[in-house]
Order: sequence, then C-alpha cells, then structure tokens
Amino acid sequence: MLASSGVAPSCNVQSFLKRGLSPRLLALVCTVAFAFSVTESADPLHIRAEAGGNVTFRCPADEKRRPAFFYFQIGHIFVNGYYASKNINTSWENTRVEPNRTHVHMYRLNISHSGDYLCIIQYNGSNTITEVPIKLTVTAPYSKPAVTTSCSEENLGLSCFVTCASHGGYPVSKMTWNIPVSRNASSQMWRVVNSSEVPSPSTMMFNSSSTAYFNCSDGMLEYVSCSVGNVMSNLFSVCAPKVKPKSFTPVIITAACALVVVVLIIVGLLLRRCKKRNTGDAANERREWRVNGSEEEGVVLKENKGGEEAA
Ligand SMILES: *[C@@H]1O[C@H](CO)[C@@H](O)[C@H](O)[C@H]1NC(C)=O
Ligand SMILES: *[C@@H]1O[C@H](CO)[C@@H](O)[C@H](O)[C@H]1NC(C)=O
Ligand SMILES: *[C@@H]1O[C@H](CO)[C@@H](O)[C@H](O)[C@H]1NC(C)=O
Ligand SMILES: *[C@@H]1O[C@H](CO)[C@@H](O)[C@H](O)[C@H]1NC(C)=O
Ligand SMILES: *[C@@H]1O[C@H](CO)[C@@H](O)[C@H](O)[C@H]1NC(C)=O
Repeated sequence: MLASSGVAPSCNVQSFLKRGLSPRLLALVCTVAFAFSVTESADPLHIRAEAGGNVTFRCPADEKRRPAFFYFQIGHIFVNGYYASKNINTSWENTRVEPNRTHVHMYRLNISHSGDYLCIIQYNGSNTITEVPIKLTVTAPYSKPAVTTSCSEENLGLSCFVTCASHGGYPVSKMTWNIPVSRNASSQMWRVVNSSEVPSPSTMMFNSSSTAYFNCSDGMLEYVSCSVGNVMSNLFSVCAPKVKPKSFTPVIITAACALVVVVLIIVGLLLRRCKKRNTGDAANERREWRVNGSEEEGVVLKENKGGEEAA
C-alpha cells in the first residue's frame, strides 16, 4: 500500500539544483528516493483491487506544503482534483478527493477503471510540477466452477462428457483439469473436447468453460476437479457405475416387502406342517410309508424316526 508521507525530504528541488544536478537526474533520484521512502515493496506504485470494491490512491505529496493544484488523471483525462483558488466541478462521479490532501477515493470499481493514473501536484510558491504515476489493476474472481456430467453407453463402452463452467472473472483464464496422475498419461482415456473464454461486452468479465471426454473402460475415476483463476470446483467422480437410487428405491422396497411376505408365508406353512407331523397319528404315517415300500420297513423307519424326534 502506498504511504501518504510520499516524497522523501532528500528530494528537495532547490538543494539538488544548487548541487548542479540536471532535472532529469533529479527526477530519477526523486523516484528512487520515493520508492524507498514509501514502502519496501518492489512495485509500490501498482495497486490491485477487485471489481465492486473501493480503492484509495495516495498520491505522494509533501505534507508540509500546500498544493496550489492537484490533478488526478488517467492519461490526459481528468478524474478528480482541485485548485487552491477555484472550484473544479467535472470529476468522475465515483471518486472523492480529500480536501487539502492528495488522496483520491474511487468507489464501485469495474474492470474499465484499470489503467495508468497520474498524480500531478504543484505547490504554492513553486514553479515545479510533480508527476507520479500509479497503476491500477482491477480484477474479478471467477465463480466456483459448476460441473455437469452426461454419460452414455455406446458400442465401445461407457463414456462421459463433463463440462466445467465459471463466470464473471477477470483477467481471462482458461479452465484447467486436475486429473489424478494415474490416469493423466493416456489421451485415449480422457481429453479436452472444447473450451471457451467469452467476454461480456458490458462488464468485460469472462465466462470460462471447458468440456472433457472420459473413456470409462478403466472404471470409475475419483478425485477429479477443474480450476480457473485459482478457484477450484468440488472434487467429483467420473464413470461411476450407473445406479439411479431415486428411481430404483420403490422397486427395491416393493421387492423386499414381497420377499418378506413370501418368507413369512413359507415359514408359516412349514410350522403348521411340523406341528401336524409331531402330533399326527401313526395311521397316517404308516399309510404313507406303505406306498413306498413294505409295511415292515415303513414301521421300522417310522419307529426310528419317532424316537429320534422325541429324543
Ligand atoms: C465502498 O465504499 C462505500 C462507501 O464508503 C461503502 O458503503 C462500501 O461498503 C465500500 N465497499 C467495499 C467493498 O468496501
Ligand atoms: C463442447 O462440446 C460439448 C460436447 O460435444 C457440447 O455439448 C458443447 O456444446 C460444446 N461447447 C462449445 C462451447 O462448443
Ligand atoms: C456468462 O454466464 C452467466 C451465468 O451463467 C450468463 O448469465 C451470461 O449470459 C454469460 N455471459 C456470456 C457473455 O456468455
Ligand atoms: C464502469 O463504471 C463507470 C462509472 O464509474 C461507468 O461509466 C462505466 O460504464 C463502467 N464500465 C463498465 C465496463 O462497467
Ligand atoms: C476406451 O479405451 C479402450 C482401451 O482402454 C479402447 O479399447 C476403447 O476403444 C476406448 N473407447 C473409445 C470410445 O475410445
């Protein structure tokens, strides 16, 4: 961030001129001194902000002196500023300048506010005009990519098309795929079919999307994701076995119920039969056996069986 205590005391026009430095060298020295006095950052005059946000340009100025005028402009277009002695009315409606200071607040940023701005200051009682450039970069975060999958069973097996789509980002960024390394090698198993980065004419922001094809012959692929501009989608699986729990649930419940009913009926019948057998009269049993063999055998078997059952 820019500090307002801007230009270092060493950058004093008169003292430099007395020492016989050329204005060009002076400018260089001033810039260097400024860079060191303001912040340790290597790139102090570059502000980054997000669309929809606010930003404050702190034009470096000598706090001990009153500016005769302060202009804040982009290229040659006046943005905001003031004269000590008169009013200027034509300024960008989304900016405010602090009275008697060289700070400019900019609100409701959009992409088109990006650019190279210039602080222009002249102090009372001085003919020197100081110009300091400040670069503004407005970015917009991409939305979390939405994933849609459509799979189809073909002659060659199951295959899927997966589309990742994100909107409203800036600057332009391609959708990338994060595929587990084990499957990354073969282009036969997956490949990007198409991708697009479409700018919106009104906001200048981009919609970024990509569609990839997956060959499912190696089974389910887990922990897949896609990302755009540092925003990642949820992890998802491709080529999952084709189960539709919702449409199958009633069928499963019906089948389970039917099975339970059938089992109950069978158990009931068996129990009734066992009861009959245990308490049944010998005559019935004998008759049964007589059908299959001699009466003697039947009776012997019957006795053995009865004995076992009783034991
Ligand atoms: C930007 O400034 C306005 C006015 O001061 C304020 O209402 C708004 O919350 C600020 N927005 C952000 C993102 O800081
Ligand atoms: C990308 O390919 C998919 C599958 O072939 C298709 O459905 C989609 O419309 C294509 N998208 C673009 C932007 O061409
Ligand atoms: C970008 O995506 C948003 C949300 O899906 C949509 O409303 C808008 O029309 C898209 N813009 C362009 C230029 O395709
Ligand atoms: C950005 O905001 C300014 C007003 O601050 C407006 O005039 C301009 O149309 C906007 N541009 C975009 C691309 O939204
Ligand atoms: C999918 O990959 C298998 C080999 O792993 C290959 O035999 C098959 O032809 C591929 N299917 C398609 C549709 O490319």
